Amino acid sequence: TPRVFSGIQPTGNLHLGNYLGALKRFVDSQEEGISSIFCMVDLHAITVWQEPEDLRHATRELAAGFIASGIDPTKSILFNQSQVPEHTQMAWVFNCVARMGWMKRMTQFKDKAGKNAENASLGLFGYPALMAADILVYHATHVPVGEDQKQHLELTQEIARKFNHDYATEFFPVTKPVIEGAATRVMSLRDGSKKMSKSDPSDMSRINLTDDADTIARKIRKAKTDPEPLPSEKGPLDDRPEARNLVNIYAALADMSIDQVLADHGGKPFSEFKPALADLAVDRLAPISTEMSRLMEDVSEIDRILADGAARARQIAAPILQKTYQIIGMVGA
Ligand code: TYM
Repeated sequence: TPRVFSGIQPTGNLHLGNYLGALKRFVDSQEEGISSIFCMVDLHAITVWQEPEDLRHATRELAAGFIASGIDPTKSILFNQSQVPEHTQMAWVFNCVARMGWMKRMTQFKDKAGKNAENASLGLFGYPALMAADILVYHATHVPVGEDQKQHLELTQEIARKFNHDYATEFFPVTKPVIEGAATRVMSLRDGSKKMSKSDPSDMSRINLTDDADTIARKIRKAKTDPEPLPSEKGPLDDRPEARNLVNIYAALADMSIDQVLADHGGKPFSEFKPALADLAVDRLAPISTEMSRLMEDVSEIDRILADGAARARQIAAPILQKTYQIIGMVGA
């Protein structure tokens, strides 16, 4: 039976890339009636320094972002990672399955560790093994993510395959990454060659889910573009990364194909297309930001939802961890 799992780091600045590449697609899978589990990965967040109060706030705000985007915590399971100890228990097992060489190849580690990798935390190096544990401790079959997580999901598959091979079992499924739609890689609004990211120092580079309507409209108006009008076919967008990015965002927000967007807007200058995009973005995003602030007025309710989600998640994860312990020869399992 299919089961969806995905996670987001509670590190602040939930943005349009997270929404279109992940959250909006989580809602689609929930609405298709697939059993879905969504996690605020607070243990992944601390692989780089987090101020404790900021982390607590960001975790609750992320939960509010999930709910405001349409995740229904009674239909889906919504929880934070540290409340389900089976994730770290399974991660230890996978630390012993994964090879140093696999981890060293991870581009996200190389990017985040920078030049001084010796000074990176051991947790940052082992990050992908914890991520594999997140997924496999539920025997999840489908993982919707943005393009930037592809390499981590291939490593998850490698871990599952090696475990199955080493212990002569078929216990772990080889999980399918689901990287689909027009917005699997939303780019910065200031530079079409950089992805939109929480850590970009320029706030104008991204639309945050907490931005109000005026801010959203202003950021789109100021987005970098080229002087040509929009083409009426896809091909010419290949050499126009900023134009392509805005078209992709439009398509994803409107649930339209890129061809459809170009059929409607081809030939228009950006002075016309940008206001249309801004109206669409405000229409779709402003209600989310309003609902997030409303939910954040009662954090005890958010904490209750996360505790309830964690209890339900554990019911699935605990027997899978026990079975894993049994397979590898732990007494008592
Ligand atoms: P994170 O927190 O960086 O991002 C959360 C989700 O948002 C997607 N995303 C984007 N999609 C399109 N365009 C962008 N510019 C953009 N930026 C981010 C990401 O691809 C992701 O889907 N390692 C993960 C968290 C994680 C996880 C997991 C995911 C931990 N365990 C298990 C899936 C399954 C991460 O750092 O995502």
